[in-house]
Amino acid sequence: MKKSPLLALISIASIGFALSACSTPDTPALTAAAVAPKDGGLAMPADYTRWPVFKLDVQKKEARQIRDIYVNAIGTQARAGGAFPDGTQFVMEIHSVKLNPDGTPLLDDNGKMTKDKLSKVFLMAKGPGWGDSAPAALKNGDWIYTAFEGNGTRAGADQSSCRSCHLPLADKDFVFHYDAYFKQRAGLETAPLTRLAHADAVATAHRGY
Ligand code: HEC
Repeated sequence: MKKSPLLALISIASIGFALSACSTPDTPALTAAAVAPKDGGLAMPADYTRWPVFKLDVQKKEARQIRDIYVNAIGTQARAGGAFPDGTQFVMEIHSVKLNPDGTPLLDDNGKMTKDKLSKVFLMAKGPGWGDSAPAALKNGDWIYTAFEGNGTRAGADQSSCRSCHLPLADKDFVFHYDAYFKQRAGLETAPLTRLAHADAVATAHRGY
């Protein structure tokens, strides 16, 4: 099809513009880092309850919470001993538990706490260069963090606390249930891990959210 002279002129002009934009040294480059989300800026994934399960029914007696953790399909490509690939997302639901009149958790016949309400949804995700925006002392690789209320609105969380609590887990790609997950995937008996003892000790801080 023959282009009208006017259209041809517009095309030439836009090519010229595109070329000059590329060659101008002070044009800000649209790199991955420039568009990377930052702490607090992740969107809640709509379909995460259909994602592969990472760990369900984590009973936090002291914190009076039950936590369910999901990982997206990309994350399941990780291999034991390695890091999770770019594009991995973890979602952790934090549920309050039913209480007795005296404020202690109401336990079922198996001695387990039962869920009351979804109080928070915590998200961590990684992508190329995403960690660049984090303060150097709190850099958790390329992971970034965002917290939501149970109703899906963004929570006014201080993500430096997310970072400092996950920071000691550098050898596990900053993921708490790393060992348990890979053991379970390998079909092995899940042995109690010293790391999880640490997890229990620090988990009460989640109460603040
Ligand atoms: C006081 C320490 C602490 C703080 C602060 C903290 N976390 Fe965690 N986080 C944990 C522990 C412990 C687990 C493992 C689940 C469990 O056993 O409770 C965990 C698990 C997670 C997981 C599931 C993946 C994994 O590591 O197993 C996500 C996602 C997560 N946290 C996000 C966040 C976000 C977002 C924040 C900040 C809003 C945050 N965390 C703050 C201790 C912390």
